[in-house]
Amino acid sequence: MQLVRIHQLNEGMVLARDVYDNSGRVLLFEGIELKESFITRLKELDIYAIYVENMEDLSPFDQTVKLISKEEAMKTTKKAVQDLTLKKSIKAKQIKDEVVNLLHAIIKQRIVCLCISEIQSYDSYTESHSFNVAVLSILIGVKLGLPEKDLVELGMGAILHDIGKLYLQQKLLNKSEKLTNMDFNEIKRHTQYGYDMLANVDGISHEVKEVIRDHHERINGSGYPGRLKQAEIGLFPRIVMIADVFDAMTSDRIYKQGATPYEAIKVIRSMSGFLFDPEVTKAFLATVVPYPVGSVVKLNDGQIGIVTETNPNKESELKIKLLFDEKGIMYKNNREFLLDNDTDLKVVGIS
Ligand SMILES: [Fe+2]
Repeated sequence: MQLVRIHQLNEGMVLARDVYDNSGRVLLFEGIELKESFITRLKELDIYAIYVENMEDLSPFDQTVKLISKEEAMKTTKKAVQDLTLKKSIKAKQIKDEVVNLLHAIIKQRIVCLCISEIQSYDSYTESHSFNVAVLSILIGVKLGLPEKDLVELGMGAILHDIGKLYLQQKLLNKSEKLTNMDFNEIKRHTQYGYDMLANVDGISHEVKEVIRDHHERINGSGYPGRLKQAEIGLFPRIVMIADVFDAMTSDRIYKQGATPYEAIKVIRSMSGFLFDPEVTKAFLATVVPYPVGSVVKLNDGQIGIVTETNPNKESELKIKLLFDEKGIMYKNNREFLLDNDTDLKVVGIS
């Protein structure tokens, strides 16, 4: 079952719950197949969203990913990884082609911001992580005004940034108990392993290799492997490090539940100028909008609402119109309220 906004409904979708009008009468029954006339009537009644039987996600982001074929792009990344494992040469051209496709899809769709919570549904962390980091890095690069040629290099670096993890033992990466200092030291070596792996590979530029080696550096010199500072770190690694931290923080892993986009954005903002480049952080903050207007969101008490207004200067402030109570019953009257840091209600995700 999935909650879908009215303007995203199509003929043939099947209702997963009864739909009520404002006076509590059932308008349409569960199990019914939607017709164009029903959709028109729902719009006339000013109903925002209804539950339909499971269907493919219709978020704008996923449509874009579908356009470029998320599976294909991820398959290519996986293939590159396998080839390297088997000590075959990496197909740099193939990865480049995928990044170009991804980039064109982003430009064509005029995607200027990313509702990041919508890209967390992929199953395998390692593959989806590289892909998510690439999309976010490219979007930050677009915001910074980088030319297309650079965006392709940036995307390639982001796709391959953790490739050195292939040299780490699987059981170390998936370890659920506390990591020892030795484990941490070994994991940290993935940056240098990756750089060395690609050292002599044709078609991989110096900038791409820099991303692989330097994406864990921090501008105050506290990162690894080189403890580089400020401008000693290239622009591309400075972009990818933020995308990497954001995706890692908001993803669910074996040992932890992911933070909400709000929390992750707050942490990254607080580290601007300290761990992260301020200009790049600014571009990131302008790129990631956790819950844009029109998002159907779930609150911590189980209610569901739609975002009707956001504050570009304060991402914790959202105006929300409540649609359903915690039992999934549609509200009959208009309940709009402002949610901010002082309210007990919190958005916990996209519904
Ligand atoms: Fe990494």
